[in-house]
Amino acid sequence: MSVIGTRGLTKIYNGEVRAVDGIDFEVEAGEIFAFLGPNGAGKTTTIKMLNTLILPTSGSATVAGFDVVKHPAEVRRRVGYAAQDVGVDERATGRENLTLYGHFYRLDNRRIRERVKELFELVGLNGYEDKMVSSYSGGMRKRLDLAMGLIHQPQVIFLDEPTTGLDPQTRVHLWDYINKLAKTMGVAVFLTTHYMEEADRLADRIAIIDLGKIRTIGTSDALKKSIGGDVVTLTPPAEKDEERQDFVKRAEAALSGKPFVTETKPSDGQLAVYVKDGAAAIPGIMQIMGSQGIEVKTIAMSRPSLDDVFLKYTGRTIRAQEGTQTTFVQMRRQANRRRNR
Ligand SMILES: Nc1ncnc2c1ncn2[C@@H]1O[C@H](COP(=O)(O)OP(=O)(O)O)[C@@H](O)[C@H]1O
Ligand SMILES: [Mg+2]
Repeated sequence: MSVIGTRGLTKIYNGEVRAVDGIDFEVEAGEIFAFLGPNGAGKTTTIKMLNTLILPTSGSATVAGFDVVKHPAEVRRRVGYAAQDVGVDERATGRENLTLYGHFYRLDNRRIRERVKELFELVGLNGYEDKMVSSYSGGMRKRLDLAMGLIHQPQVIFLDEPTTGLDPQTRVHLWDYINKLAKTMGVAVFLTTHYMEEADRLADRIAIIDLGKIRTIGTSDALKKSIGGDVVTLTPPAEKDEERQDFVKRAEAALSGKPFVTETKPSDGQLAVYVKDGAAAIPGIMQIMGSQGIEVKTIAMSRPSLDDVFLKYTGRTIRAQEGTQTTFVQMRRQANRRRNR
């Protein structure tokens, strides 16, 4: 049986913001399942509903065999949660932080001592038990946070953007611990991320979430294969936004409908062209561009990446959205307005 299961799970804030819009998915024991999506996609809202911190507006979810609305206390006893912002107390030692959590879950002192030993080992912090957290690095704090979420041996752990703000090396390090957790202890890991590479390298399965909806679910391989071919990316010589948009428009018009082109997607002033066989398609593409007088600066071929998958299913690149919170909020408002019309 699945450890997490949702049916049409929905959260509407203040009667108007559809933060999570009817999602269905399941997660098995020992599985690492990632929600990949940009800021505002509805990732944290989903985690909060599954953690019984907020109520769904409609739909249902079970976690560790219990309905999140009907049996929140049973759910809470069986899940761990590491929030987006680290929840450790800097003015206490690692052991004191963990002990506080242990008491919260009503573990006795002997059990807490055992768990401190086990968990510090698991997250590679042994030797630091009695050091002040203020002396820990960012990566060490995240690992302590992870250990705290595990004190009561939950069946599921929710990790909300576990490596945001960490440097790449520390990030890879943390992936090892998360992996160990799932693969040697059978804990179901539900994590959210806006890092393509994190989902790609760490997750068994990925759900691409955008504007509150799951656009597709699968293994990284299956998602890439679903694109069915190669991606040829055309870049204009122009630097100015309008000129780039114009290039994209003209190139798309010239190529769409051609028999060797599966699909075209504008992104970020470039045009992604999905084709069956990239090497075979490039001469044809260049010939068409030449005959239309469209100047191309670079033409690059790649096997589909998760970025391409994201683009195919959402019509946008996740990279272009990083740090563009305002535009994104505007887009969501527009989407909501359209829906309410
Ligand atoms: N408490 C809240 N009240 C109203 N709107 C909210 C609240 N929390 C989040 N939202 C909105 O819901 C949407 C999804 O947010 P969130 O779940 O935090 O996304 P993510 O974690 O993917 O960045 C966003 O548009 C956000 O502004
Ligand atoms: Mg979030």
